[in-house]
Amino acid sequence: MDLDLWTEKYRPPTLGGIIGQEQIIKSLVMFVENKAVPHCLFTGPPGTSKTTAAMAMAKDLFGDSYERNFMELNASDERGIDVVRNQIKNFARIMPSGNAPFKILVLDEADHLTTDAQHALRRTMESYSQSCRMILICNYSSRIIPPIQSRCAIFRFSRLDDDGIATRLKHIADLEKIKIHQTGIDAILYLTEGDMRAAINLLQAASSTGQQITDKIVYAISGRASPETVKTMITDARDGRYNDALQALRSLIYHEGVSPVDLVKQMHKEIQTLNLPNQLQMDILEQIAEVEFRIGEGSNGEIQLTALLAHVGLGSGSNE
Ligand SMILES: Nc1ncnc2c1ncn2[C@@H]1O[C@H](COP(=O)(O)OP(=O)(O)OP(=O)(O)O)[C@@H](O)[C@H]1O
Ligand SMILES: [Mg+2]
Repeated sequence: MDLDLWTEKYRPPTLGGIIGQEQIIKSLVMFVENKAVPHCLFTGPPGTSKTTAAMAMAKDLFGDSYERNFMELNASDERGIDVVRNQIKNFARIMPSGNAPFKILVLDEADHLTTDAQHALRRTMESYSQSCRMILICNYSSRIIPPIQSRCAIFRFSRLDDDGIATRLKHIADLEKIKIHQTGIDAILYLTEGDMRAAINLLQAASSTGQQITDKIVYAISGRASPETVKTMITDARDGRYNDALQALRSLIYHEGVSPVDLVKQMHKEIQTLNLPNQLQMDILEQIAEVEFRIGEGSNGEIQLTALLAHVGLGSGSNE
């Protein structure tokens, strides 16, 4: 069995290989064609091609001299001002080698840099902009100080759409010679919500069972409940079959190993697909927020969730 992480093995090496994010990729391709790259800020949720796009752009731009003109620093390891004073300055001030117009420094997870470090960075970005362009990557752009944002072209990456992820999963499954059923793909899409990395990781984990991948396998391996089970549990509670609902809840927590935190999130998602009367739905949503908070604070998940189901039943008036 191969031990590589599929997310790395199948990371698209060039901009052309990146699925989705069309507008952003178009701009980056233009940068490469014109050999003119501004300082950039890539921001967006996890697993949506930010790091991939930065590396692919540098590879497309530099070709053979990629190794010499590109550096990636992960700001979540070293977050203080020293990293700006030493590593970043040392890389930025040395002129590019080969016939590269400038070097590229990728600062991944830049939102983890301390505010002091970010202030030091703004000067460096200006002083050495002749020799080095920076690509800052973060999940939340609001954590980057405004003067840095104003020095960058900002690209907001969105969650990838289901079609794009499904195509990629099928492609990888073909190359890895594993069989995946449509229900398996749908389950992965449901659980990963536009995060390509999570989707590929789940595919790899599910493939280790050696069987054709179905929704059952996906839910079992990820320790999550199927949407149908959650829906049935809620409708049972709503319609007064409280014992069935409780049994389903216990089985999910104790036999299938679903964590109460995940379960409350799934209930939140499914409630909104059940076409409940407005008042009831609002009431339950409010209760879900309360229960989620309490579980997060460490209270007993089973007790909180049984109370939530009781609330669903009482609110619907099925016991009156
Ligand atoms: N658009 C895409 N097309 C194909 N594969 C992708 C795409 N986006 C992501 N991937 C896959 O997902 C993995 C993770 O993507 P990437 O490292 O670019 O995410 P990220 O946006 O930097 O996330 P994070 O914010 O968590 O660092 C890649 O190694 C690649 O295998
Ligand atoms: Mg990244």
